[in-house]
Amino acid sequence: MPHRREWRIRSSAVLCVCRSRPPGPFPSELETYLSFKDFRRADNIAADPQTYERENEAIARDGRLDAALREVADWAGWDLLDVGAGTGFWLPRYAASAASVTGVEPDPQLLQAARDRVRSVDNADVMAGSAEHLPVADAAMDIVHARFAYFFGRGADAGLAEVRRVLRQGGTFIAIDIDWGWGEFSELLQMATNGNAAIDPDGTDTWWREHAADRISVRAGWQAASSQEMETILRLEFPDAVVDEFLVTRERSDPLSFGVALFVAHRWRRRPTTRLRVPRHRARAESMIRALVTGNSVDGVA
Ligand SMILES: C[S@@+](CC[C@H](N)C(=O)[O-])C[C@H]1O[C@@H](n2cnc3c(N)ncnc32)[C@H](O)[C@@H]1O
Repeated sequence: MPHRREWRIRSSAVLCVCRSRPPGPFPSELETYLSFKDFRRADNIAADPQTYERENEAIARDGRLDAALREVADWAGWDLLDVGAGTGFWLPRYAASAASVTGVEPDPQLLQAARDRVRSVDNADVMAGSAEHLPVADAAMDIVHARFAYFFGRGADAGLAEVRRVLRQGGTFIAIDIDWGWGEFSELLQMATNGNAAIDPDGTDTWWREHAADRISVRAGWQAASSQEMETILRLEFPDAVVDEFLVTRERSDPLSFGVALFVAHRWRRRPTTRLRVPRHRARAESMIRALVTGNSVDGVA
């Protein structure tokens, strides 16, 4: 920690740099950091959005993650919020069946790309914000997704409280994270982080458990459009030496096995309002209530 006077000089020097920068569409990194204190720049998508787009296409082509997400909480007909939406790759896909889709993104450059992407999508919108600062009204969303959301985990209690605030009663939050216990992607992660004490996937699991989230493992994959594309994506995510070593023993053209952990939290978990087994979705909750009022039965609920 610098001496207070020295720090004052340094901070005003930084502000000078900010004020004197040429006017442009994006605030400086410092300004972004100051506005969203929990924002941590993504090394992959922010460094090379085009290659990250190929990575998302490879995940979409495989389809298994998408199917698992729909299984947990299908967004058809509901209001969905995507926290940390990046360039908004998934927003039009959600919007195809959701009632409305809102993307929130703190990185100004990615935010702009996401806005451009959904410009002609009537039921999709993108806003500046972060997990800790969601620009969304209380109880406005049925489903919240946070994909590859390294900003959830130890220390992210404020972000989780924000998500609970914007979810309607009966809503579902899914944080989509890497499963370190299965698949080639996790092998690559182990190789790349070997000996790095700061990496603590068990700590993340524990944090979610402490916050009453369920953990669902999904055995998904990447299907790149070509072997060259697979290699390019791998080199975005991992150091060259790790990719070189990995590719010695496997074909570049094979799909990559990709373990995903879904951490699923429900809005009512903290304060259950009914002694009945509460269904996953508000739709289900509403139909149960209707059935109780009208005396009709509800499929699948005894
Ligand atoms: C690995 S990228 C994933 C982007 C997008 N979800 C996707 O799957 O294409 C993580 C994203 O989270 C954003 N991010 C970083 N810190 C955040 C925070 N505190 N709250 C919300 N988003 C954040 C990054 O700017 C980046 O866009």
